[in-house]
Amino acid sequence: MKHAGVMGWPVANSRSPVVHGHWLKQYGIDGDYRLLPVPPQELEKALHELPERGFAGCNLTIPHKEAALALVDRLDTTAQRIGAVNTVVVMSDGALDGRNTDAFGFLESLRLALPKAQLNAGPAVVLGAGGASRAVVAALVDQGVPEIRLMNRSRARAESLAAALGGPIHVLDWSERSAALAGAALLVNTTKLGMAGQPALDLALDDLPQSAIVNDIVYVPLETPLLAAARCRGNPVVDGLGMLLHQARAGFAAWFGVMPEVTPALRRAVVASLAAP
Ligand SMILES: NC(=O)c1ccc[n+]([C@@H]2O[C@H](COP(=O)([O-])OP(=O)(O)OC[C@H]3O[C@@H](n4cnc5c(N)ncnc54)[C@H](OP(=O)(O)O)[C@@H]3O)[C@@H](O)[C@H]2O)c1
Repeated sequence: MKHAGVMGWPVANSRSPVVHGHWLKQYGIDGDYRLLPVPPQELEKALHELPERGFAGCNLTIPHKEAALALVDRLDTTAQRIGAVNTVVVMSDGALDGRNTDAFGFLESLRLALPKAQLNAGPAVVLGAGGASRAVVAALVDQGVPEIRLMNRSRARAESLAAALGGPIHVLDWSERSAALAGAALLVNTTKLGMAGQPALDLALDDLPQSAIVNDIVYVPLETPLLAAARCRGNPVVDGLGMLLHQARAGFAAWFGVMPEVTPALRRAVVASLAAP
């Protein structure tokens, strides 16, 4: 029996066991996926015990994604660029391979939700410069997006992201976010604004072309005020659940040997778990 799990602190609210548990059942795999509560001072030990405990690997969540960069034996180029590890794979020689699947999840989510969309058709606007933004911006640079307008409440954080990733990133002031929508082909919210318990994102969509894709990576609630407003004026919209589900696929494939699918039944199972207290 193969084991995998998610290490975090706290980790009780992670939806990853619902996702991987659904796939283990769907594909009839003899394996399990557990919550692994690990405080920061025990991360190194917990990671290095994975092979002897029979684990094929694990996901990492807050606060371990950055700390793990220095603790794994190998890092893939995406994790290195993004500066965070969200997936660890135990290799056949016992070495720990650190990967980041968030950029893949973001792109797959858009590609499958809107199969005809050309992400490099025009400028992209990205709001936020936290951990998730690094994966989104790296993915957009790799897709050949001609211009990425990046805005963050703390401008310095956006500037350091732009310097770290390179590419056609133009940092603007947070106050310019509504005007920056003119001529954009894609808008992505990677801030926490609009998430349950947070204020809504204050953004005037008047200058955004109606053809622009609007993606909010916040997934609680699924329809954020931003998505509701964009949908109302006719923009194609993509919610944040797709990214969450698609980023999980690569880890499952590495641990359990099957590249799983994101199906309506999986979405329903995760949406039901999000609604649960
Ligand atoms: N769908 C998915 O798979 C997925 C994956 C990862 C994350 N997410 C979601 O993405 C969001 C961000 O996650 P993260 O890991 O990137 O978090 P993070 O590293 O803590 O970054 C938070 C971001 O939100 C901004 N922010 C927070 N409060 C703000 C406010 N009052 N006004 C303006 N900006 C504000 C921060 O700006 P400052 O830098 O100025 O503080 C920063 O850009 C969360 O809602 C998370 O659930 C979704």
